[in-house]
Amino acid sequence: MEKMEEGDNKKQVTCYLLFSVVTAVIGSLQFGYNTGVINAPEQKLRDFFNQTWIERYGQNIDPDVCTLVWSFAVAVFSVGGMVGSFSVGVMANKFGRRKSMLFSNILALIGGALMGFSTLFNSFEMVIAGRLVIGVFCGLCTGLTPMYVGELAPTALRGAFGTLHQLGVVVGILVAQIFGLESLLGSDLLWPLLLALTAIPAVLQSLMLPFCPESPRYLLINMNREEQALKALVRLRGSEDVGTDMQEMKEESMKMAMEKKVTIPELFRTPAYRQPIIIAIMLQLSQQLSGINAVFYYSTGIFKTAGVTKPIYATIGAGVVNTVFTIVSLFLVERAGRRTLHLIGLAGMAISALLMTIALLLVVTFPSMSYLAIVAVFGFVAMFEMGPGPIPWFIVAELFAQGPRPTAMAVAGCSNWTANFIVGLSFPKLREWCGPYVFIIFIIFLIIFFIFTYFRVPETKGRTFEDIARGFAGSANAASGSALPSDRAVTLPVSPTTEKFPM
Ligand code: GLC
Repeated sequence: MEKMEEGDNKKQVTCYLLFSVVTAVIGSLQFGYNTGVINAPEQKLRDFFNQTWIERYGQNIDPDVCTLVWSFAVAVFSVGGMVGSFSVGVMANKFGRRKSMLFSNILALIGGALMGFSTLFNSFEMVIAGRLVIGVFCGLCTGLTPMYVGELAPTALRGAFGTLHQLGVVVGILVAQIFGLESLLGSDLLWPLLLALTAIPAVLQSLMLPFCPESPRYLLINMNREEQALKALVRLRGSEDVGTDMQEMKEESMKMAMEKKVTIPELFRTPAYRQPIIIAIMLQLSQQLSGINAVFYYSTGIFKTAGVTKPIYATIGAGVVNTVFTIVSLFLVERAGRRTLHLIGLAGMAISALLMTIALLLVVTFPSMSYLAIVAVFGFVAMFEMGPGPIPWFIVAELFAQGPRPTAMAVAGCSNWTANFIVGLSFPKLREWCGPYVFIIFIIFLIIFFIFTYFRVPETKGRTFEDIARGFAGSANAASGSALPSDRAVTLPVSPTTEKFPM
């Protein structure tokens, strides 16, 4: 057990806290794994659809029908994700954070079994149903994990801990890319196992969760169980000195007792919530409409067009860069702050996308441009992980106090999954229409989100949930009373820690 102190910020990291966070982050790993796993075995799945068709109807499947079934199997995952992420609010309030994570693992087992046994029953419908169920499961993970981690983390380390969710996601993607190699599990025989493997982390997490505490914030603020909250907090912090945390939670609790339960329409109607929910949604959209999944879903094709000879290895290279830069962000986020990193990331992605466009335009005349394409994709991914990858996932939990948090997480998560679905589904067509210019679409979005972030997103680094919420309430009052100043600090009165970005 160790305890670190830095200035006024108490940074208490205990083994128990790490154990609890790692357990929760298995959910993030699941989301990443199931995002990345479907790419490699595309041809095997198409062959399987054909095989089933021949057995049932005695003829080959029509190529268009095959593509339809394939696209459906890919896209249905995001549809499930929308449903799952939308259910986060209700589940997290009803069962608590920990039990919700535990229950959601049942879905991983069902989904894994459906896909794993699909060849045994000659049923491609089982693959589709499995992807849908796994999608619901992953939608729940993208809300429950960041919420639980955000509520457990000490204030001064909330960003770094929040980034662990994204680290879990990227490691999951990388593992899926590697396991999906033909020489490993991406073979004719083993692909059902590749898809079913998601059941193993589900079992592991279910075994570990009973040893983790329920979120102390949930225990105190939602359930009014002060003694249990105190016990959990003392164990997590490794110290009896948790007075400040308890005091802060009690203040939030008193405020919450005065507020009614927050519904989705209320999030948009109440002035104090409107600004943070718009920021939360815009940040989620900035993550997806940056075009990151155009790379993760279709990088092999992009590399092929750019003349790369071994595209699958370039794709794995992108997965490695992805992981490395998430770790870089983990160490920077509490120093540089969320806002700065998000801005750097968006700008860097726009520049990389421009380089990508140049490479795709010139590769026909200059084959060596394929190297520029690789550099551009790696740069795009690296810059994504500096800010737009990790930050939107955890900042939503920071922007809201206990009362509206679960509802806000549901709305934000659902926006993310919807945008993910749209990019995933439309990118192949957009590529057909726009050819080498396709990344210009993302450049435009990146510029819009850069401007929005610059003017509207406040810094949340080092501030308590209470302080952040009070800031929004304050600016909402000011907005209804007097004219708005034009400075970015309008969105939130800036705390003393906000203006300094010691890098
Ligand atoms: C984020 C996105 C996800 C994407 C991943 C790539 O977690 O939400 O859609 O695939 O980053 O690292």
